[in-house]
Parts: sequence; C-alpha cells; structure tokens
Amino acid sequence: MIAPTAKAASPAVLLQLLRRARTNSMMVMATSSNSTFSTFPAASSSSSASTSTSTPATLESLALSDPPRAAHAIRAHLSKGVAALSQNIAVSASGSRVLCSNGRNLLDMASGIGVLSTGSCHPRVSAALADQASTLVHAQQNIFSSHLPLARLVDRLLEVTPRGLTTFLFANSGSEAVDNAVKLARAATGKQNVISFDNSFHGRTMGAMALTNSKTYYRKGFGPLMGGTFATRYPYCLRCSARAHDPQGSSWYKLAPNVPPVGDPYADRKCCQEPLDALRWLLKQQTAPEETAAIIVEPILGEGGFLTPPPGFLDGVRKICDDNGILLILDEVQSGVARSGTFWAHSQLMEVGSTADILVFAKGIASGFPFAGLASRPELHENLTVGTFGGTYGANALGCAAAAATLDVIEEEDLVGNARERGTQLAAGLVEIAGRFRSIVDVRGRGLMAAVEFGGGGVNGGGGGGGSVEEALRIPAKPGIASAVAAAAGERGMILMTAGARESVRFLPPLTVSAAEVDEALGIFEKALGDVEF
Ligand SMILES: Cc1ncc(COP(=O)(O)O)c(C=O)c1O
Repeated sequence: MIAPTAKAASPAVLLQLLRRARTNSMMVMATSSNSTFSTFPAASSSSSASTSTSTPATLESLALSDPPRAAHAIRAHLSKGVAALSQNIAVSASGSRVLCSNGRNLLDMASGIGVLSTGSCHPRVSAALADQASTLVHAQQNIFSSHLPLARLVDRLLEVTPRGLTTFLFANSGSEAVDNAVKLARAATGKQNVISFDNSFHGRTMGAMALTNSKTYYRKGFGPLMGGTFATRYPYCLRCSARAHDPQGSSWYKLAPNVPPVGDPYADRKCCQEPLDALRWLLKQQTAPEETAAIIVEPILGEGGFLTPPPGFLDGVRKICDDNGILLILDEVQSGVARSGTFWAHSQLMEVGSTADILVFAKGIASGFPFAGLASRPELHENLTVGTFGGTYGANALGCAAAAATLDVIEEEDLVGNARERGTQLAAGLVEIAGRFRSIVDVRGRGLMAAVEFGGGGVNGGGGGGGSVEEALRIPAKPGIASAVAAAAGERGMILMTAGARESVRFLPPLTVSAAEVDEALGIFEKALGDVEF
C-alpha cells in the first residue's frame, strides 16, 4: 500500500507486477489510444484477447505491460452499456490517490462517485475487513437472527441516524435500498403512487429507474417502467423563472448562493414556492393524496448536478406529506454520511428535528464495500408479512464490519468537520476561479460535494465581465464543455466527473482529503479550464 500522502511514486508492487507481465509475450488485437482520459469508445467485437496468436497472454498481464491495449481488450468482454470515464486501469489506491497500471498516480476528486468516504484503503477499514474476512464472511440473515458485526453496526447507526428512525433494512446498493423504501412505503400505507423530482437520480433497478428523472437515457428503451410514479419540479434557483421575473432577481442571486460562507448565502430567503406549488397541484391534478404512498427526494441532488434547495423547500415537502398522509423518503445515498459537512445533508436544510419517515443510505457508509440500507420509523414495519423483505446478501458480515469501521473513522477523525472545512476551501477556490472564467455560471453544493455549472457567459463579479445572471443564461453552454474539462483534468492527473443533463462537473473527493490536495485539485482544475477552448 502506498502512503496516503504519496504523490507520484509507483509502489514496488506495481513495478514487480509490471516486470513480471513484460516477460510474457502478447499479441492482443485491440485498438490502442494515446489518451487515457477520453471517454471509452464502444468496444469492437474484433477486439478480443482470444485473437492471440503466440503465447497466450492473460488480460491481467496485458493490463500491466500494455495498458492502452489491455483497456480495449478487457472492455471488449464487458457490457457496452456501462460507461467509463477513462482508459486507466486501476492497480492500487490509498487516501486520495489512485495508481494505475500505466504508472499514473491520479488525484481522486470522485472517490468512486462519493463512495470512498474514508479514502481508499483506510488502514482501519481495511483491517476491519481483513479481520472479518478471516472470522465470518456471511451469516445469512434468514438463517441467523444476527451476527456480531451486525450488532456493532446497529449500535453505531443508532448514534448517527435521526431520532425516531430506529428500524433498519440492509441492501447491497443504493438502487436496491430505494426499491425497498418504495416497497415499504406501499406496504405501510396501502397506497401505490410515488412522487419523485425532476433532475433526480435514484438508481438503475426497475423500481429506482422509474423514479429517476435526471436524463432520459437512464430509462429510454427499458419500459414498461414500474407504474404509479409521478415527477414534479425540484428547485433550480439559477434557472428559476420566479427569480428571473423578480425585479430583484439578478441582484439577489449570486454565484455560489448555496455555499456558505463563501458566496452570498441567502439563508433568510425562503423557497420561492414555485416547486412546492407544482407539488400541490400534482396532488390535485394527477395523483390524489389517498393514492400517494410516498414522496422521494434527494436533499441535495447528486447525479442531477448538486442542486441544493433553498431553505424552506424540504420543510415545505415535509409539511405537504404530513398534511396528506404521505410518507417522506429522503434519499441520502450520495449526500449522506458526512459528505455535506453535516452527517446527513437534510439536517442542515430542514428545521431542527425534522426528518424523513424513511432515510436511504449507501455509497459512503462502507468506504467502498457494496452496502446500503434504510432507516425508518419502526411502526412502518409492524404489519409486514414475514419473508416479504430480505435478500441473500443483506446485512452481510463483511459489509457490516466495513460500515461499522467507517463510522468509527468518521467520528474519530472528525470527517464531518473536515468535509465542512475542506468544502469551504474548495468552494472558495472554485468561486475565485469562476471570477477568471466567463463560462462558469454557478458554483454550488455543500461540504465536499461541490459542482460547477457552465453557461455561455459571465455572472455577477464572477463572470470576467460582470454580466447579469440573465445575460449569462441567455447564451447556452457549449455542448460537451463539462466532459472536455473533465477529460482535460484527467490528462493532468485528476479524476473529475461530470453531473446532470446540463454542463456541470462535480467534485466529490474522499472526506479525508487534505488542504494541500484541495489546493492541488483547484490548480489542476484551473489549468484544465485553460486547456479547453470555449
Ligand atoms: C441519490 C442516489 N440514489 C440512488 C443511487 C443508486 O445507487 P447505486 O448506484 O448504489 O445503486 C445513487 C447513485 O449514484 C444516488 O446518487
């Protein structure tokens, strides 16, 4: 394992593997590319390791001796439906660094899409996994009443989950947890319909996909989708028509409105009510409260571009739920587990003590081990028929051990505080950079989830010209600009992802990220912006 602070050194193990692999002779027909960070092209069926004519090489050895060829040869055997940001082949990782078989040591500003909360291979989490792996790997939840890591995890979860949400159900992915949340809401209420929001992402399973509205391609061609779903508007303050029609609209909207204390927080400005009105009308016109089991919402949109609702919005949704006997499902798969600078994002966006009926978590909960779950009010489970929920791997012992260790590390290393401090540093840096780049129209998010949206012009002091928001938004963003910036960052050694249907990039570093790494990320980002012509 490389030290968390290591920057460019290749570990001895990689050299060893590389040397071993180079002694093999390889003849793999595959298209090679010099760029390691262009989006992966569709693999051709002729690109296959099976075309080898001399000593057969394993794909693993090729990955070390000829990474570009290997990247294509391996992908030829993987589903074309899965996208890949780069052609890098990961070998080892530590903290905020990922070492690839081509020798590149990348700065990780994606953390496996918000998964590696404690950084890659945190010694404490790795030790917990190793220990558990040699003690008890799987004690199936239908066979045993519990097991020790599960008991440890429940103890730890009860310390961090909102008051009243004391019944847990575990799953293997965010999507599966969302599906279970919907099942639970339907079973507990005896109602069928579920409302989600535009720009939302809740997953790719048949249930979660039907609630996902961030991009059409997540659903196109996969119908018929689960029935009983409805979509309504999520606040998008930058593009809110209420703001645009407000004579003071441009003046109150500042770059980074949601990134206190960096931008111009508008904590005293409540939601303009348009999205809440739309929700009320949806309940009048399309799905009656008597038929609506739940409303599912991300407190901060993840895949949808880190849109952060203004104060009052989530409380408004909570009230509509309460007034109409509808359950509130908060999907904190991406925003939860210390990511936003509070343990749960909703706790800084809702009135004190206000929370969900069902809270969904995944990603950062187990530092990279596939683990997810939901926390909910106990009474929702009271009338469930035994056996209707479950799953072979739910509450898996390794997952529980990884999650419990993750929660230990988050507490002991004060990663909530680090997310807040490094998040402020990151946001401040991004706002400063926005001042030098005309095309940046927004910097938003909370804690260590920060996004930059590109438009076609400048905005406020941050637009390299001081134009108004309206001016900036009238000029559409150059299509592909976010992907181009992410690719340029990749070429410069930083993993950066895009987000949403519009042109945005998102920063989601490990919660252990250091001040020096944030500075480095900002430096690379600014250079990447300079690399892209727009
Ligand atoms: C908010 C949210 N919900 C659900 C999911 C689905 O999680 P998974 O990919 O683990 O199925 C994601 C994944 O990105 C997410 O961001």
